Amino acid sequence: MNGPTTQITDPEANDEPRKFTFDYSFWSHDGSKEDANGYYGPDTSHPNGKKFADQKKVYDSLGVAVLQNAWEGYNSTLFAYGQTGSGKSWSVVGYGINKGIVPMFCDDVFKQVEAKKAEGDKTEFEITFSMLEIYNEQVRDLLDSRTKKGGLRVRQHPKLGFYAEGLKIVPVQSYTDIEARMEEGTQNRTVASTNMNATSSRAHTIVGITFIQKFQNAAGEDTTKSAVTNLVDLAGSERAESTGATGDRLKEGAAINQSLSCLGNVIAALADRSSGKNTRVPYRDSVLTKLLKNALGGNSKTIMIAALSPADINYDETLSTLRYADRAKQIKNSTSVNEDPTEKLIRELQEENEKLKAMLASGKLEMVAGEEDEDLTEEEKKQIKEELEDQYKSILDKNAQEMEDMKKTFEEKLKEAEQKGGGGGGADFHAIAEKKKTVPHLSNLNLDPQLSGHISHFLEAPEICLGFEGDIVLKGPSVAAKHAIIRNDGGKFTIEPCDVTNRLLQNGKAVVSKQPLNHNDRLIFGTTQYFVFVNPKQRDSSKEKYPEVTFDMAQEEVAKKSGFDMSGENKSRDDALLQEDMLEIMPAVEEANAISQELDKKMKFESMIVSPEARGEQTGRTEVMIKATNVETKHEWIWPKVKFMNRKYVMQEMYNDFLDGDDPWDLPPEKDPFVDDINAEFHIGSVKIWLQSTSYMIAMKEQLDIIDYRGYEVGKVNIELVPCDKSGKEISEDEVFVEDPSELVGKDVYFKLKLENAMGLPSKFTDLYAKYIFNHEQKPFETKKLGNTINPQWKFNQVHGFAKCTADDIAFLKDGAIMLQIWGKQKPPKEKRTVNTKDALVKGALTKGQSHNVNTNNKKVDPEKVKYMVKCAVLEKKTQHLEQKLAAMKKMLEEANKHKKRKLTIELIQKIYHAPSSDAAEKCIALIPQEKDDTSSESSTSSSSSSSSDEEKKKSKKEAKEKKPKAVLKKKEKPASAKSNRSSHKPPSKARAQTSDAIRGQNKSSSCVLL
Ligand SMILES: Nc1ncnc2c1ncn2[C@@H]1O[C@H](COP(=O)(O)OP(=O)(O)OP(=O)(O)O)[C@@H](O)[C@H]1O
Ligand SMILES: [Mg+2]
Repeated sequence: MNGPTTQITDPEANDEPRKFTFDYSFWSHDGSKEDANGYYGPDTSHPNGKKFADQKKVYDSLGVAVLQNAWEGYNSTLFAYGQTGSGKSWSVVGYGINKGIVPMFCDDVFKQVEAKKAEGDKTEFEITFSMLEIYNEQVRDLLDSRTKKGGLRVRQHPKLGFYAEGLKIVPVQSYTDIEARMEEGTQNRTVASTNMNATSSRAHTIVGITFIQKFQNAAGEDTTKSAVTNLVDLAGSERAESTGATGDRLKEGAAINQSLSCLGNVIAALADRSSGKNTRVPYRDSVLTKLLKNALGGNSKTIMIAALSPADINYDETLSTLRYADRAKQIKNSTSVNEDPTEKLIRELQEENEKLKAMLASGKLEMVAGEEDEDLTEEEKKQIKEELEDQYKSILDKNAQEMEDMKKTFEEKLKEAEQKGGGGGGADFHAIAEKKKTVPHLSNLNLDPQLSGHISHFLEAPEICLGFEGDIVLKGPSVAAKHAIIRNDGGKFTIEPCDVTNRLLQNGKAVVSKQPLNHNDRLIFGTTQYFVFVNPKQRDSSKEKYPEVTFDMAQEEVAKKSGFDMSGENKSRDDALLQEDMLEIMPAVEEANAISQELDKKMKFESMIVSPEARGEQTGRTEVMIKATNVETKHEWIWPKVKFMNRKYVMQEMYNDFLDGDDPWDLPPEKDPFVDDINAEFHIGSVKIWLQSTSYMIAMKEQLDIIDYRGYEVGKVNIELVPCDKSGKEISEDEVFVEDPSELVGKDVYFKLKLENAMGLPSKFTDLYAKYIFNHEQKPFETKKLGNTINPQWKFNQVHGFAKCTADDIAFLKDGAIMLQIWGKQKPPKEKRTVNTKDALVKGALTKGQSHNVNTNNKKVDPEKVKYMVKCAVLEKKTQHLEQKLAAMKKMLEEANKHKKRKLTIELIQKIYHAPSSDAAEKCIALIPQEKDDTSSESSTSSSSSSSSDEEKKKSKKEAKEKKPKAVLKKKEKPASAKSNRSSHKPPSKARAQTSDAIRGQNKSSSCVLL
């Protein structure tokens, strides 16, 4: 980062760095040091100390401007976008003393208001606060722990735009008030996230602050100036690769990422509009974009913070975030000050209400203003009309409420809010913070560090039971009614599971009997309840320096105990990404199994580490995939990580409905996340077919192993690659011989892929077929589908190749391969067996302790093995060819000797040499007796010419040199380039080396007597 510019370099390429320029670029990755209070400030001794931007610097640059907007009566929005863990919450909310923009903004608002008042300003100031969360397309009021199921409805107001109906908007009169409300909101989030085991980092939080100034304008009218400020902490953006299509019909069921991906679409559309294109802006596609409509494309000054993680493994995401920000930069909003005489505002609201009432009475409903510029589809228009009537009523209420509010004094509003309760979180919060300093307690750990430490269970009694019917109530998959007991025996703590089958982990290890409990121990109850035990006395009296416990740390030690290598050292980017995926997947698989077990869903999940070859792909990185098995039917599905994670969110919802006693909690099969399509095709295995033989125009017939996801052989396939012409007419090896593939450049090269059959495939499949993609072609080639056999006879033939081959085409044939994938459908079960999920899972030891079963693909297929087999076969064929030539040459010499020929013409020798087959060579050799031999009288060479004396050899060599016309030889010689090509080859095989020498000898002396 340099001034306003951020530059990024691909760690795996030598490309020029990419540069992006924004209003500001802040560096806070390193160059900081923590002071005694825990505040991170610049470390002047560090090379990056100078450019380190602390929280204050960021606030001074951004927050101050937002506050200025509020004073002037402009709406503002500040939102932070970036991948998980990149520092969005750090910037927007902050941690502890390192306060982010929201608390600093709130603090400053009051400070400035107080200052104005001190100056004798007669303006009345009103500040209100609201806090909501969007999770899975539902709006939850964070200031109301009793938000009803399904969340708040999002409505559209003609003037205010979209709003969450019934959202608590509370008046606040000091920063302490806001702090208390924020704590209340965060606590509600934490409880919901822990109990519903919702992944809170997938939630968006919007803090809304309305700043109203009431004063008399120059004309002496009572005037209201208002500014709405939205401070948005978005959910972490997904890895670019994981947002792709999963092909899962349930994708829509889990709307986890809908808001975020829709925000991207809205930003892209608005950027297009700014550049003059008439693009539709899809605000209506998600709750987030509805609520932020004004901020994104309306009357709001909007600031976007793009949070970046500069680690190598985050390169792709960082680049995508920068591009996102670059697009957002192009959006231009037109803003205006919200200042009007109060009378006028009240009059307008009254008029509006009269109009609405009239419309409702007449049944003639109009579109809401502002809708026209949205280019709605007919379907959307219809939907809007249907919602209108309901909505009008809601607007009527809202307007009436507004009017009433305008008439009320701020004091009246404050009193009302006090009567309604809430906001006490702050007072409690301070008392709890004090208590935590001395009383032993369990402190919650959450995947989102913002939510860690907000739930404290104090351990004051000598014996405390935890569980969903315990003294401390814990809910979640695999949490028993009475799950575990914590005892305090004179200051010495112990923990014990109430039943050995209860899943209880202490520092990553399964607890089956009473164990001592020490300060900083990590505890996991069931699959989702994570805590750290805090014993202040032990901590303060010990010399030990206890590390800060995080959720990641607790998760990593579980993974480590399950035998997964969690060390971060010397890991390639792909391995680091795999490790990150594993950390996410392992607890999710545990949770899915626990839910399946509790709901008796008959499904078992296992994670597998799968190489691209095992997936039947030629490129890509090793990935985590999930094997889902129906324990009754034994049907299997292999799910990519994204599909599994999406389904897991639906499983969580289903489980919550079950816990809440909702009837029916179960979903119909088409919506059930535990049910997958029985008719879905299953990828049985893959075969890599190397094409090298075709680059030598040699036919190949091979029986190759079909390898499944786990790396096991699941059958064999018989394939042939036969050189042919474009029409498919096969070319016999006798007709061509390629010594080096480069000879084929510029020529037409075709071959036929014959897929005769597969053998020994697992009998549980039917509708068996094979498919593959050739080179860069888009459309896959497929065999017919065959059922009721384990040995499908496909008899498939397909011509592939290139007209006028380029060097690249040849390189592809020489080093490339076709990935043949074998697919089939699983047969329906012969008989229905009834199996209890719990029994099946316990049998599979999947739910207890370090039960996580990672299939690490230990039977690794060596992708090089088959390649070498093909290479050997090609070499064997080449050797055969060369040996045949050698034999022909020998025979020729024998014949020449037999017929006492001292000389043969080059033409004949070449004919023999290039004869495509032994027979053809024989025919040419038969011509030797007819060869003219003007020196035949001199010939005294016996049939055992090989035993001729050295003298004779020298003599004949000399004669040859003198007598043979060199010009003829030159004409027939290979071009120099061909020669140099050849010299760059790998060392020739023995047979080839001999033959080459022989040919060279022949070329030199042409009389072939030097063998
Ligand atoms: N500039 C910073 N200096 C010091 N620590 C930071 C900084 N930015 C982030 N962190 C730390 O990194 C961790 C992750 O940051 P944060 O919670 O802000 O990420 P996020 O982008 O909000 O992630 P998510 O999408 O999961 O909510 C936190 O523990 C936070 O304290
Ligand atoms: Mg966050």
